[in-house]
Amino acid sequence: MKWYDNAIIYQIYPKSFQDTNDDGIGDLQGIIKRLDYIKNLGVNTIWLNPIFVSPQIDNGYDVSNYFAIDPSIGTTDDFEQLIKEAHERDLHVILDLPINHTSDQHPWFKDALSNPNSIFKDYYIWQKGVNGHEPNNWGSFFGGSVWTKVSPESNNYYFHLFDKKMPDLNWKNVEVQRSMADIAKFWVDKGVDGFRLDAFIHMAKANLKQMSLKSGKYPTDDTFYAKLPEVKQYLSGFVSEVKEQNPDTFLFGEASSADSHQAAEYTRPEEDECDVIVSSNNYGEVYDDDSKVKGFFQPRKFSLDHFKETFVDWESVLANISYPALTWGNHDVSRFVDRLNLPTDDPKLQKSLAMMMFLQRGIPIIYYGEEIGQHGLKYQSVDDFDDQRAVELIDNLRAQKFDDDDILALLNEEDEMTARGPFQWDDSEFGGFSNVQPWNWAKQLPASAKAEVSDDNSMLSFYQKLLRLKSTSLFSQGDYCLLATNKDILAYERTINDSYGIVVINYSDKPIDYVLPTNKNLKVALANQKVDVTGQVVHLEPWGCCALVKEEEEING
Ligand code: GLC
Ligand code: CA
Repeated sequence: MKWYDNAIIYQIYPKSFQDTNDDGIGDLQGIIKRLDYIKNLGVNTIWLNPIFVSPQIDNGYDVSNYFAIDPSIGTTDDFEQLIKEAHERDLHVILDLPINHTSDQHPWFKDALSNPNSIFKDYYIWQKGVNGHEPNNWGSFFGGSVWTKVSPESNNYYFHLFDKKMPDLNWKNVEVQRSMADIAKFWVDKGVDGFRLDAFIHMAKANLKQMSLKSGKYPTDDTFYAKLPEVKQYLSGFVSEVKEQNPDTFLFGEASSADSHQAAEYTRPEEDECDVIVSSNNYGEVYDDDSKVKGFFQPRKFSLDHFKETFVDWESVLANISYPALTWGNHDVSRFVDRLNLPTDDPKLQKSLAMMMFLQRGIPIIYYGEEIGQHGLKYQSVDDFDDQRAVELIDNLRAQKFDDDDILALLNEEDEMTARGPFQWDDSEFGGFSNVQPWNWAKQLPASAKAEVSDDNSMLSFYQKLLRLKSTSLFSQGDYCLLATNKDILAYERTINDSYGIVVINYSDKPIDYVLPTNKNLKVALANQKVDVTGQVVHLEPWGCCALVKEEEEING
């Protein structure tokens, strides 16, 4: 067994966690300052969104130097101190590694552009335009074409799946493969315990001349640039080198569009691949088909049925292969308390959702702030949303005669920037995050870690108890079995050796009696309300949840 089979991950958006030098930007010293808080939460691993030198076009996913820390976030000394202090507390540190692209300010790209004999030309992807147009009509995930002209007078284009300032690397080139492995090994030598492989499913592209079959100006279509067969080859080359450096390095791959079978394909234990796949397909959410807004910003809602189907599928397909990632969201979506159209004003429901997700078989990933019930930022004007995708949406909806208030409400519910707000440490003006206005700032609903710490009934206390339960072998390693129940109940069993646990959630605003599938003597390990267990019947209040274990079990939630 590897350490990461029991990983419980806390995702930190470094720019928004804790500022210590009053420039409004979170920093590594801020994370160091809060390590005790993180440790007390009950996680054992932290994942930091990118901290390398970057022009910050995409908040660090555009890297211009992979061997140093962005000066706005800290220094190499700060990083070494962070690793040391994290390890002293038995916390593992995982870095986010953008491997699909660099910044256009990376010396490789700059040299490739300006030097006709550059040895870095073949690090990137180039094509000639066709009849004064881009080489084909493929669309970028960030809006517009995947192609940008190297200069206005040229007919030569470079390829970028994301922002035009983030050119894609050419992974066919063995020098690119070697360079990326060297970068990872450099950080492994500094004591880093693992990497999140950003956007790795896009490393290979189809024949670039092929036109997309979809109509429209710049359609996006995974068929041409996601999950192509060569991805596995590039991935295993990279992973084998990193694991050779340190076999305990944990690799979790971001494959946002992967289904369970694809996740299995990328995590076969007998091959050098990822250890875990994180997909955005397992939030149990469904799109609101009645909405006039389609695509990236289409409103979503939670569906318990869909959640059940999703996890039966992922748990069965990945059994004996790898662990599903258990998460309600990340920095690329709005916070789930805002996104899923739930009656989350009842804190009982948020606790139920946490239990429902994290006690399943799998690796929990908690997005900073979830544990104190933090909501997203509420921007005051549509003009506050300035990324290309949001601007395109605003133009498009205005053309359809939507009024700005409705567009604002939609964006506040769906846009990812709302999820990247400063952590709310206390109830002071800038939430104890900074003494000056944070880099990403708008109105916030009240939340305060300080108040939560001292309240035994708080969300934070519940998360702490929940994660203590999660770290038992029963809830981390045990087998998982979803039970057939009526539509308002979710129930699953966990078993390992002689241990037995069952999680029951009442997903409704009415009290419910649930008949347990066993007559074993069970006790309550954790609940978000008073639960009655009489014989085989559990009585749950509205939005109630409980985890029950065998009477003699030595588990203390
Ligand atoms: C991943 C990241 C996202 C970033 C993109 C490009 O999807 O999660 O935040 O914009 O890759 O690096
Ligand atoms: Ca700072």
